[in-house]
Amino acid sequence: MQGTRQSMALVNLAYQRHLFWDGRSTQMEEMLTHPMERADEMGLTPTQIEGKLQTDAYKQLFANAFKGSKPSYALARKALSQYVRTLVSANSKYDKYLAGAYQPTAEELAGMRLFFTHPDPTVRPAGLRGANCGDCHMSITTAGRTQGLAGFANNGFLNPTDFGLERVTRDTNDRGKFRIPSLRNIALTAPYMHNGRFGTLEEVLDHYNSPEAFNGRYTDFLMKTAKNNRGGTSLGLTDQEKRQVIAFLHMLTDTTHAKP
Ligand code: HEC
Repeated sequence: MQGTRQSMALVNLAYQRHLFWDGRSTQMEEMLTHPMERADEMGLTPTQIEGKLQTDAYKQLFANAFKGSKPSYALARKALSQYVRTLVSANSKYDKYLAGAYQPTAEELAGMRLFFTHPDPTVRPAGLRGANCGDCHMSITTAGRTQGLAGFANNGFLNPTDFGLERVTRDTNDRGKFRIPSLRNIALTAPYMHNGRFGTLEEVLDHYNSPEAFNGRYTDFLMKTAKNNRGGTSLGLTDQEKRQVIAFLHMLTDTTHAKP
């Protein structure tokens, strides 16, 4: 069955306080009940899950892991959670650069600078150029801010059939806000956004550069105030700058992750 949302990458979740696109889970053990029990995912009841665990192989494994205990749904969630917590990624070119072990290309460096800069066209003489991404995607290892709900934002798009965080908080100020996801391995994990509406990073950059995103009714203040040209009505990156940001996004690829 086709669900309504794109699956999120299972990486570095040990550092994440709010799980899922709308942050509806704050606890890994509880989070795992959703994919197992939801009708549009695995669609199992707790009793059915316990039934599947009553094999000799599982009995032995549970006894070894949990001091002689029998297999149960609660212990299965504990075991799975511990496994998911080991899926850590910290070996991308960007991690190596931070550790002083990789020299970025000129294009990667330019992209990195743009990524972390909030633009200001009034700075003399030529204006401060920036792509503004780091205002939200601040911590590359994890995601956005992790305190409270600060790591949620609207990035210039309102999905008429999915209001995101508002569905959880019932607060209309949260309309259209979604979790600011980690961009680690982003070059490998298309399609993009909670509903998978973009197929390539070029489309993502075109979105952030568009007047529609800039002027959206629910668009976050941090995006509405980010423009590279005086009097501009969009972010206003050049084609070359978009390519530079994408080069930086490729620096976040880590093919060694997920090997505990
Ligand atoms: C106002 C905060 C904000 C800013 C600024 C921002 N983003 Fe995002 N970004 C988000 C949110 C929120 C999402 C998830 C939106 C959704 O699912 O609909 C997201 C999603 C993404 C995704 C898709 C991730 C995935 O796993 O599908 C990419 C790629 C991305 N942003 C790149 C960028 C780049 C590049 C920039 C700078 C040009 C940028 N973002 C600026 C908040 C922001």
